[in-house]
Amino acid sequence: MINLKKPEYVPGHGLIKGKSVLITAAAGAGIGYSAATKAAEEGARAIVISDIHEGRLNSAVENLKKETGLQEIYGKVGNVVVEDDVQALIAYAEETMSGVDILINNAGLGTSKLLIEMEDDEWDKVINVTLNGTMRMTRHMMRVMKERGEGGVIVNNSSVLGWRAQKEQAHYAAAKAGVMALTRCAAVEAADFNVRINAVAPSIVLHPMLRKSAPAELLADLESKEAYGRAAEAWEVANVMMFLASDYSSYMTGEILSTSSQRG
Ligand SMILES: NC(=O)c1ccc[n+]([C@@H]2O[C@H](COP(=O)([O-])OP(=O)(O)OC[C@H]3O[C@@H](n4cnc5c(N)ncnc54)[C@H](O)[C@@H]3O)[C@@H](O)[C@H]2O)c1
Repeated sequence: MINLKKPEYVPGHGLIKGKSVLITAAAGAGIGYSAATKAAEEGARAIVISDIHEGRLNSAVENLKKETGLQEIYGKVGNVVVEDDVQALIAYAEETMSGVDILINNAGLGTSKLLIEMEDDEWDKVINVTLNGTMRMTRHMMRVMKERGEGGVIVNNSSVLGWRAQKEQAHYAAAKAGVMALTRCAAVEAADFNVRINAVAPSIVLHPMLRKSAPAELLADLESKEAYGRAAEAWEVANVMMFLASDYSSYMTGEILSTSSQRG
């Protein structure tokens, strides 16, 4: 019998063979880095990863080359909140890879704070990175893909908190609900020039950075609410991103796919 509690790592199946991929916030220990690994394993011909943290980004590029064997992996520092960075990043990726086929908007930021205690700057920071950053990357990529005229795919990273309520998450949940709405609306516009835009909505994905920043009891409680009684592995979310990035989802646009095992 298959043990659903302990997933076997799924090897690549060439889902995005020959495609070029740009991924934001990919130098961490979570979904972004996993998406870059998966993109290489699924046959991408070239990958540009970006992050705000230069030191981690350089290491991530080297590690990805070593781990996946793909040498066409490039890094470009950038903050998704800053329009000049966004334009420079997309121009770099377009030039380095002779066009971007797939953009994965992974950048997002959360903190925990009761709404009645929240200051404007904390609200603004989370909305800025999570919603405005995704909007800036999506908007500019759409412009460039439209101009190039060869179509493309954008995959956004939202969260089940865009649908669900959780204490101390009003800012993050509002931002992720915004990413969902942005995905749906941008998708109907981008269909006119053959660009698909979808999103994943993860529940909980544990990695060392999150373990350090969130209370252990909260993480344990969130895990216990999942049908499988555990957090998703980052690569399990990255697999769904690869499906949305691939031609297997050619008739899907404006969709939000939950990667949670909890319903409701
Ligand atoms: N980890 C989870 O449980 C979980 C659950 C639901 C949704 N998500 C979403 O998944 C995405 C990835 O989160 P993760 O926890 O897997 O971490 P991750 O490792 O994929 O991303 C963290 C990286 O983001 C970078 N970053 C932060 N702000 C940035 C900015 N302004 N511009 C560019 N890079 C920036 C950081 O330097 C870090 O390297 C986020 O959008 C997050 O909201 C995560």
